[in-house]
Amino acid sequence: MIYLNGSFIPIEDAYISVLDRGFIFGDGVYELIPVYSHIPFRLTQHLCRLQNSLDEIQLENPYTDHEWTELIEQIITNNEGDDQYIYLHITRGVAERNHVFPKKVMPTVFIMSSPLLVPSKELAITGVSAITANDNRWLRCDIKATSLLPNVLLRQKAVESNAIETVLLRDGFLTEGSASNIFIVKDKLLLAPPKSNLTLPGITYDVVLELAEEYKIPHEIGDISENDLRSSDEILLTSSTKEIMPIILLDGIKIGSGKPGEVFKQLYKYYQDFKVAIMRGNLL
Ligand code: PDD
Repeated sequence: MIYLNGSFIPIEDAYISVLDRGFIFGDGVYELIPVYSHIPFRLTQHLCRLQNSLDEIQLENPYTDHEWTELIEQIITNNEGDDQYIYLHITRGVAERNHVFPKKVMPTVFIMSSPLLVPSKELAITGVSAITANDNRWLRCDIKATSLLPNVLLRQKAVESNAIETVLLRDGFLTEGSASNIFIVKDKLLLAPPKSNLTLPGITYDVVLELAEEYKIPHEIGDISENDLRSSDEILLTSSTKEIMPIILLDGIKIGSGKPGEVFKQLYKYYQDFKVAIMRGNLL
């Protein structure tokens, strides 16, 4: 059961016009919200980021946060599984093909739920491999835009190299992954690239930094050079669907000992505990 422009309908019956500006131009924004035990994770923060994305593309938010919350709750109830992820997507609507914003057009709003299949515990124990590539995306990566062709091409490169993610470097500095944020650890210090127009402000990125603060893991935000990345002791990847994962091989070369490191192990445990606390209703 999905939501499309005011109706809850089976996904098989959901259609949009070929003139939808999301289809024609990728003129839209989206959010992806993990749901644990029927509870959306960090919903307020996801809706806040959605508002920023909409503001940046000058598209009026069709709903209040309260309305979004009700729609998302209905989608969760109407779909099977305790753990789901909500994908929501707003485009500038249907209009004759013209780059210029159309006047008085209703946006297209689409919400769906899929099963949330987080990486297995085994992967947290063995670690995963990643490759690097030049970050050839546009300069507004802070907008969660539906036009993801560069990210798609970059992610495909990883899969073709039997890796899980492509870590991106722009002008010799780490930005993020093709669909994740990236942290490094050097001499027990957790380092995160700063938020800027070159990265998506990840909700999981914020959670990891909050956990580091709470559990007194030394951490810093600052530019990370290619050399810092390659000579780091640990590399961590975060996203709503992958949670937190250790990258142990980069371009086929071992990172640190070639095994998940101590900072990863701590943060992984704290993240899992945090989720449990949310499911018990103790936290949001
Ligand atoms: N992507 N950077 C990029 C480019 C991303 O696409 C994502 C997530 C992140 C991590 O953000 P968050 O922690 O809020 O999920 C960073 C989602 C999962 C996707 O597009 O499927």
